[in-house]
Amino acid sequence: MYKSIINFIQNLYNTKEYIPLHAPVFIGNEKKYLEECIHSSYVSSVGSFVDTFERMIEDYTGTQKAVVCVNGTNALYLALHICGVKQEHEVLTQAFTFIATCNAIAYTGAQPVFIDIDADTLGMSPTALRKWLETHTHMVKGACVNTSTGKIIKACVPMHTFGHPVKIDQIIQICNEFCIDVIEDAAESLGSFYKNKHTGTFGKIGILSFNGNKTITTGGGGMLLCNDADIGVIAKHLSTQAKVPHAWEFTHDAIGFNYRMPNINAALGCAQMENLAMYIANKRETAHAYKTFFETIPDITFFSEPNDCKSNYWLHAILFANATYQKEFLEYSNKNGVMTRPAWTLMNRLPMFAHCQTDGLSVSNDIEKRLVNIPSSVRL
Ligand SMILES: Cc1ncc(COP(=O)(O)O)c(C=O)c1O
Repeated sequence: MYKSIINFIQNLYNTKEYIPLHAPVFIGNEKKYLEECIHSSYVSSVGSFVDTFERMIEDYTGTQKAVVCVNGTNALYLALHICGVKQEHEVLTQAFTFIATCNAIAYTGAQPVFIDIDADTLGMSPTALRKWLETHTHMVKGACVNTSTGKIIKACVPMHTFGHPVKIDQIIQICNEFCIDVIEDAAESLGSFYKNKHTGTFGKIGILSFNGNKTITTGGGGMLLCNDADIGVIAKHLSTQAKVPHAWEFTHDAIGFNYRMPNINAALGCAQMENLAMYIANKRETAHAYKTFFETIPDITFFSEPNDCKSNYWLHAILFANATYQKEFLEYSNKNGVMTRPAWTLMNRLPMFAHCQTDGLSVSNDIEKRLVNIPSSVRL
């Protein structure tokens, strides 16, 4: 059975060479725009591509304000910082996520609390969220307090896993009831829509990543999204060393960050955005091919986009009926030139976050043992 899967993937990608999980493709204006940067000497953090890239993301996602950053991790940290998350707080998130989500929370000094996921989205479960909040917290002067630690729950960071949207409207409704800010980790979901609205634009702030393995890449890069013009201004200001705009004075009014994306990275981003629709159509075709194929394979299910969603299918995933097959397939495929990967080790099992509170994470524990990501690059 494993051999037939490997054959199928090799045929799909039309090669017997090594097949990576997700490789970037540069088939548009990337080189032309990079040359423009070099000829103009605008290679650093000021330049027209930086502004153009932000406007392109605003238009595409329908967000009011996009603020470009050097990566998704610092965009997420900046979002938490703007929401006032500090050491004395706790932040709800998923244990089933990439480490960057939790690292960004840890930089603020706050503790994560891990809420379970839904099996049909692989993202934070609104049912589990409500259950945990109703049984573990109480309200004090308009703030949600964790009854066992006495700490205020300041923010909630759901993640759109592998590009599949979470039930974000329900999560926001629950968080509103408990006075908790929602920051969407949409690092993986550029091009994914929930009920026809782009992921990352529902919460108070959202973030995207343009790391080399994402749907589009700027080499390294991230973006903060918000619909509140004031937050947009603050985010831009803080991400550019909090420099007070002036014709010649050089002064700063807060502790800011050097999170500006260089123009050469933004140039790549502009060229990649021009092909985003094509990349997504291509990845959705691959998803269809995988789904049709895996329907013929017993005990393996291809993970399809949830209801009410249009997913970018950033990373394709299959689920084995039995955890033993997961290990066997990982061994076999990686030995035979096809890169596959299990989901991340759950965050609550990493030494840095092992002391954090969880809700039991029964679905996360089950999915972690059965899921495998399979090659997902755009097919040329
Ligand atoms: C869920 C998630 N959050 C945050 C990030 C961080 O993005 P970056 O690598 O651009 O810092 C990534 C991707 O790398 C991610 O997958």
